[in-house]
Amino acid sequence: MGDGEVVAKMLAAARAAMAKAYAPYSNFPVGAALLGANGRIYAGCNVENAAYPQGCCAETSAISAMIADGERQIRAALVVGQGAELIAPCGGCRQRLNEFALPSIPVHLSGPKGVERTVTLGELLPFAFGPQNLAGSGS
Ligand code: THU
Repeated sequence: MGDGEVVAKMLAAARAAMAKAYAPYSNFPVGAALLGANGRIYAGCNVENAAYPQGCCAETSAISAMIADGERQIRAALVVGQGAELIAPCGGCRQRLNEFALPSIPVHLSGPKGVERTVTLGELLPFAFGPQNLAGSGS
């Protein structure tokens, strides 16, 4: 499967998840898809809560699905929203993605028309604090 086909599959998975988002408070459904090192695609949607801070982003849901399946390496990520402004992962999700990905992975930013821009995780989160900072610390 070529790169373009993989991205198309990621977009389809993220859109399907977005259609199931639980976002009654913001009315801002989001979908995300992660490509694992195993070649599988993991999707997630945002899941809001009446206690607002307890809500969770689409990227976080997708990471949970990937980890629960036994995969720990993200090779590519995609996020899709419906707004006029192009969506990108929030700061917290950039940090969560960084836990399981190299800075070089592509992050595809998508809207109603599809992928509009591709950046790297390193561009979204430069000088990241990550597992390497704790390696050898004895913790
Ligand atoms: N949201 C995501 O799911 N991912 C993002 O990258 C940005 C924001 C969600 C959180 C909340 O449910 C809604 O979008 C509005 O902030």
